[in-house]
Amino acid sequence: MEDLIDKTNVPRHVAIIMDGNGRWAKKNGSMRVKGHQSGVKSVREVTEIAAEVGVKYLTMYAFSTENWSRPEYEVNALMHLLVSTIRKETRGLQKNNIKLRAIGNLDSLPSVCQKELNEAIKITANNTGLHLILALSYSGRWDIVNACKQLAEDAKSGIINPKDIDNDVFANYLDTKEYPDPELMIRTSGEMRISNFLLWQLAYSELYITETLWPDFNKEEFLKAIIAYQRRERRFGKTSEQLSKIN
Ligand code: FPP
Repeated sequence: MEDLIDKTNVPRHVAIIMDGNGRWAKKNGSMRVKGHQSGVKSVREVTEIAAEVGVKYLTMYAFSTENWSRPEYEVNALMHLLVSTIRKETRGLQKNNIKLRAIGNLDSLPSVCQKELNEAIKITANNTGLHLILALSYSGRWDIVNACKQLAEDAKSGIINPKDIDNDVFANYLDTKEYPDPELMIRTSGEMRISNFLLWQLAYSELYITETLWPDFNKEEFLKAIIAYQRRERRFGKTSEQLSKIN
């Protein structure tokens, strides 16, 4: 299936809402936590295939601001899973030249998570391949409000003139400032929502929603999403006719 990919039109940045772990567990007669554990394999597979086809940035919604209100045992299990996964996978990231990064309110994570995450970020800092960006304790509204706070401070102290604020200036205050906007956003489990993910950054992203539950999402499913993306016409508000004149 990889042969069907047009290597000249691979999205630079793919963002993923990994949904359906709980439903997968229920379907398989196990606890929700088992669904999250099984989802780690999909994270690994998708990271590998994304790097292989030439995606440069892969952002995965691993824990949202709203996820803090899940039952305490599930939050704890997710935090443990995060720590153990980072511990286990860092060597693989190194081997595959992958640079680990994170966005979100990282200070709100348990200190053991922060420590493990920061270590892996440091170890992989000089890698030049795929950037794997984990969205942790992240929400789009949090990101925007946080950017506004910093922008207001800079305006107050005269670092920036409010008249100069435009899209680019604003984007530079977001947690994603180092990354281009995603060209493609994938959501598993069939839900037709953005769920407070990258609200600003997804303005012109192509959305691909599949019924497949996250633990069943694999390399082939990822390639299917890329192929669907490559069949889309991205107009950015222009007409088809205008686009064909440019090309
Ligand atoms: C949503 O499924 C999934 C999450 C809230 C967590 C995603 C985490 C992982 C895949 C594992 C950890 C990842 C890393 C990077 C270590 P859900 O629980 O909302 O499923 P449901 O909608 O079927 O209940």
